[in-house]
Amino acid sequence: MQKLIIQGGVPLNGEVIISGAKNAALPLLCAALLTKETLKITNVPALQDINTMLALLRQMGTRVDATPPMVELCADSLIHLVAPYEMVKTMRAAILVLGPLLARAGEANISLPGGCAIGLRPVDQHIKGLQAMGAEINIKHGYIQAVAKKLRGARIVFDLVTVTGTENLMMAATLAEGVTILENAAREPEIVDLAQCLIAMGAKIRGAGTDVITIEGVSALHGAEHAVMPDRIETGTFLVAATATGGNIELKATHSHLLDAVLDKLTEAGANITSNQHWIRLSMQHKPKSVNVRTAPYPAFPTDMQAQFMSLNCIADGTAIITETIFENRLMHVQELKRMNANIEVEGNTAIITGIPQLDGAHVMATDLRASASLIIAGLVAHGETVIDRIYHLDRGYERIERKLSAIGAQIRRVN
Ligand code: EPU
Repeated sequence: MQKLIIQGGVPLNGEVIISGAKNAALPLLCAALLTKETLKITNVPALQDINTMLALLRQMGTRVDATPPMVELCADSLIHLVAPYEMVKTMRAAILVLGPLLARAGEANISLPGGCAIGLRPVDQHIKGLQAMGAEINIKHGYIQAVAKKLRGARIVFDLVTVTGTENLMMAATLAEGVTILENAAREPEIVDLAQCLIAMGAKIRGAGTDVITIEGVSALHGAEHAVMPDRIETGTFLVAATATGGNIELKATHSHLLDAVLDKLTEAGANITSNQHWIRLSMQHKPKSVNVRTAPYPAFPTDMQAQFMSLNCIADGTAIITETIFENRLMHVQELKRMNANIEVEGNTAIITGIPQLDGAHVMATDLRASASLIIAGLVAHGETVIDRIYHLDRGYERIERKLSAIGAQIRRVN
């Protein structure tokens, strides 16, 4: 198993090119199932989750021509309308094929994702929405077995804000008969990116980026070309790493509108940030100040940046409170940070962090994708050597992170 070894204490200085967003690219690839024609997606990040999704789409009969960062997909004949357990268990986003398959082929058989490291993560809202659109859905032998001769437009009010739930139903509704209205929809930028691609494919969608999305079904979609938006979580992760190490960095191919809530918190921590449409610059001259964080759906502070801010607060001046409201088990990095001497108390889904002058390097274990990123940040500021185990989580969502970090001065290497 591979590990990362980090020698802490070096400020990050230099330029990083931000990759396309994992959580935008995954639904975009699934949108290829909605048309017989070719969908060309550019700025696709080279990640394990992308490889898993492409393998899934291939086994359904999609022809895939991947020349990173470009992928061409042609689903002119769908032969196998199944997402098997083996694939869904390694990547929950596989649920995103459900809506498109049902809309285009009238049938889908998708393994029910189980709970995962960060929480239970049910998919009841995806199912409820498709049922409202006329699908007949049975759960049998751990699979969602769905059939619908023709989906019908419906008014669907989500019980809670769900990102992939909104994406799944938005895709399904593009080919349904009549108008679908999604209320209490997620407003994440990845939803807007998907809507833009679907519109380029001929879909009629209004309101993406607000909490009411209206989709007028059309009889068929056509091919298109679309560039994946920048990864706002990768962007935020590098910004926190630079803030924590007292660095000076410029991030290219990304922009600040995607992460206002995160930039506000970094400014509150003492970072000096400037940006335009194409880059974000951050410099940090002093020790960071503690910042309270409460996660919530976009445009509020993202759960996917919570762990990174935990590490920042560990070495900040003062005491901070971090409350995780999206997932019920997303504080697992706390135990690992405590092994590095962090002063953190946890009560339910709230962590109280009292900053200390320095973390100690230690042997730690990554428990999920964003927890892994928090351990890297902790390792970069710690005294001495940090060894991070189980880094396969990182490869699911960060493109060549150790290479990007080394290029801006980090003492980090991957070993077998
Ligand atoms: N939920 C339900 N029922 C549903 C759907 C969701 O109860 O039918 C609950 C979930 O259990 C959770 C909350 O609603 O408590 C929000 O979940 P959501 O559905 O929004 O999460 P997701 O769509 O499964 C996406 C990202 C996650 C990110 C969350 C929240 C993708 C592929 N994944 O997950 O990304 O944390 O939204 O912003 O877009 C990551 O990249 O590390 C990651 C976990």
